[in-house]
Amino acid sequence: MNSAGTQKRLRKVVFPVAGLGTRFLPATKVVAKEMLPVLDRPLIQYAVDEAVDAGADTLVFVTNRYKHAIADYFDSAYELEETLERAGKHELLATVQGLLPPHVRCVYVTQEQALGLGHAVLCAKPVIGDEPFGVILPDDLIVNKGKSALAQMAELAAREDAGVLAVEEVPRDQTNKYGIVDVSGADEPAARIGHVVEKPDPADAPSNLAIVGRYVLPARIFELLESTRPGAGGEIQLTDAIESLIAESKVLACRFQGVRFDCGNKVGLVRATLHFAMQDPALAKVAREFLS
Ligand code: UTP
Repeated sequence: MNSAGTQKRLRKVVFPVAGLGTRFLPATKVVAKEMLPVLDRPLIQYAVDEAVDAGADTLVFVTNRYKHAIADYFDSAYELEETLERAGKHELLATVQGLLPPHVRCVYVTQEQALGLGHAVLCAKPVIGDEPFGVILPDDLIVNKGKSALAQMAELAAREDAGVLAVEEVPRDQTNKYGIVDVSGADEPAARIGHVVEKPDPADAPSNLAIVGRYVLPARIFELLESTRPGAGGEIQLTDAIESLIAESKVLACRFQGVRFDCGNKVGLVRATLHFAMQDPALAKVAREFLS
């Protein structure tokens, strides 16, 4: 392993899914936000597919005590499978049995209290050990024709021996919703980050390049998170630990290829649903008629 802790292949990906999902209450009283469907697949399935596409074989879910649905979803459902088998519904059977490739394993870690994204990532430390890892926030759904966003980032991280954050331009008046990066060479597909600021007011924002829900980080981030004090909103912010990482090693902003849907809010979830409906030959006509 080299100085930034990066190695050729990204094996482990963390899914912080312990947030309260207040923007989807009351549904999220009992259904984890990541289980909300875009058509027939929950958000977590899109995220997991992306991780597998990037080469991951170990998926680490940071859940809270109430989110058993995610573990249940990836577990075998013997009764259902037997019923589908007996009914001769082989295509559906293959669907429920094929949620994960056989070589991929899931590990579940509990975040006892929702103390922030940084704290959630820190909860994965015992599983990750001393290797670079990916982080996917499943409510940012990213659609690609080619390589997944995380696969693009993992390649960049290995090639450049660096941490990598996915970034996207956002309207100036929305900088206070994101971590914002200050980069040299802002127009390049991959640029070195000088600073990150969590949720700055538009007037103070160093740019309009926002960090979206994908990260490739070295294990060093765990030590930095351990010494990170609660920041914006009283939460332990991942962005604050990344700011410390930037001070000591190379961290790049990656303008990934792909379209992002912010499914952490209703507008984004509706957009994503319409996008996938338009791609589906059985639904496209109905969706178009409905919209017009
Ligand atoms: P959000 O800021 O979207 O918060 O978290 P949330 O609780 O999920 O949703 P709202 O804002 O109340 O509607 C960003 C990501 O960080 C995870 C969330 O699950 C989501 O994937 N997270 C956040 C944790 O795992 N733990 C936390 O303590 C906070």
